[in-house]
Amino acid sequence: MTSETSPALDPTLFADGPARDARFTVAARWAECANFPDGHPLRGIEFLHRQMNEEVDSLECSAANLRDFPDAPWELRLSLARQCADEARHAAMFRHLFELRGGHVGQYPVLNFQYRIVAHIPSLVGRLAIQNRSFEAGGLDAITSGIEHARRQGDDQLVELFEAQRADEISHVRFANEWINASTRQNPRSVLEIGSALAGASKAFHQVMGPEGTEGASYPADGAARREAGFSDAEVGLAVQLQTNAAGASPADTLRRG
Ligand SMILES: [Fe+2]
Ligand SMILES: [Fe+2]
Repeated sequence: MTSETSPALDPTLFADGPARDARFTVAARWAECANFPDGHPLRGIEFLHRQMNEEVDSLECSAANLRDFPDAPWELRLSLARQCADEARHAAMFRHLFELRGGHVGQYPVLNFQYRIVAHIPSLVGRLAIQNRSFEAGGLDAITSGIEHARRQGDDQLVELFEAQRADEISHVRFANEWINASTRQNPRSVLEIGSALAGASKAFHQVMGPEGTEGASYPADGAARREAGFSDAEVGLAVQLQTNAAGASPADTLRRG
């Protein structure tokens, strides 16, 4: 098994990884995964396995938020609990399709960087800014591209899976946007907490992904989904502009889905 404490990663930027049973090989860096090139026959099935684990990471992040912030407002805790249920359902959907297509759990290495980055952030507002507002908002763009690609391939099962997932992910981004906006209005300190979370997450993300993992990985911004998820017109415009320019890789534009 590949160690999660690879010397290449700075341990001060990451939480310990979540538990995985003996079936899994846990990679620390993107380069250690099975990164099949475009057009490779295994690329699609490997994606289903990787994404299954990514959904478990999202579940674990939301569960950690419930565990670590017991005094958060009840409505927010309810949204986080619902998110746990949604992410568990997503993991099961990806697993189902993966196994239907002949895969077995543990067949490829998995990355737990999402959990390790998010659970390391000390503030709840910072965690929501990274997981929901950056990773999952970037995931919305990726899902929309995925739907178009699957449709072109005539892969109706995958189109259906992505469409169900997209509806849930919009709600995850939206409740976080609402709560982040309220929080920054009421408590200016939140802005500093978000800034600090973004700086740490960006450093950590680039350590995991390396130049190979971020190259050419951005998707066109899905303005409609982002508006539905509570982003302002100005924020949507900025996302479109950044991704049109393919300006550098950020957590928002390179994570596949949440
Ligand atoms: Fe999500
Ligand atoms: Fe999800």
